[in-house]
Amino acid sequence: MYKKIGIITSGGDSPGMNAAIYSIIKYSKLNNINCVGFKYGYDGLINNNLINLFDIKIDNIIGLGGTVLGSGRSEYFLNKIGRVKAYNNIKKNKLDAIIIIGGNGSLEGAQKFSKEFDINIICIPGTIDNDIFGTESIGYDTCLNTIIDSIEKIKDTAISNNRIFIIEVMGRNSPFLALKSGLAIGALGIFLNKKKYKIVLNNILNKIENKLDSNIIIVAENNVIGKFSKKIYKIFKKKTKKYEFRHNILGHIQRGGNPTCKDRILAIKLGLESIKNIINNQKNIIVGLKNNKIKYIPLKKFKIKKKKNKSLINIYNKFYKV
Ligand code: F6P
Repeated sequence: MYKKIGIITSGGDSPGMNAAIYSIIKYSKLNNINCVGFKYGYDGLINNNLINLFDIKIDNIIGLGGTVLGSGRSEYFLNKIGRVKAYNNIKKNKLDAIIIIGGNGSLEGAQKFSKEFDINIICIPGTIDNDIFGTESIGYDTCLNTIIDSIEKIKDTAISNNRIFIIEVMGRNSPFLALKSGLAIGALGIFLNKKKYKIVLNNILNKIENKLDSNIIIVAENNVIGKFSKKIYKIFKKKTKKYEFRHNILGHIQRGGNPTCKDRILAIKLGLESIKNIINNQKNIIVGLKNNKIKYIPLKKFKIKKKKNKSLINIYNKFYKV
């Protein structure tokens, strides 16, 4: 049966979004499904800023960072008037379904939209934060590798000058990037949240007074870029004069770059699954992957992932005595 679908990428871009677009276009063509894209996330849907995706030479985009569709955090979509406009454009363009690739804010928006209108939304988790419950997210793996690569570079200068670097890892409220990258670079300490920060602080101060086994301290963003890590930096500077300290925020460098093979394959799988579900008339789901198995999560059950990986937390508790 002939169908027509629309795609948007929304929220913070993540490496691998283009590979998902590639997969959607490729599998759509194979199934005689027409594909259009809307530029800059939900705003594109609201303003009917539409492009024909069959005009794109797709093998050029599979390995590109960012998103060729553009992305954004739409203020207008938070408003019912914006959502009505978006719905009218879905009808006007005779779309059978809309695919939304994005993180938790985008999926939350999609959940609301699907409750208000009779539409079919298929979501694909695309966020470096990896905070969508029940699934992995496109971009997380690339981001981790970017973090490690950047910190290894900072390590060179930290060790050469015998300084300690307080490095903030972006990830909004999600601690996963900080935890995994902190373990992977053998950090001196890792601040995951504000709750236990005094324990972490004292443990690190102890190490500083005795034997320094790394020059890098990781701090998770904790919702506001720069704030918490700056506070930690100031405390260290005040509490010990044994070393010189520097403060570094990795920030948006974490979102750029070509996707890793793992992210590309994840994106290809989820892109294909989204089309499969549209063909099978599945409605309002998140297509995801967990433990190497494809998952279909009802959109109405969408929630933010909070629980940390048990085995990683065990290592963290042992290594850092938290
Ligand atoms: O959700 C992805 C993310 O990069 C978070 O890690 C970060 O807190 C936020 O987006 C930054 O948002 P913006 O790009 O709008 O400054």
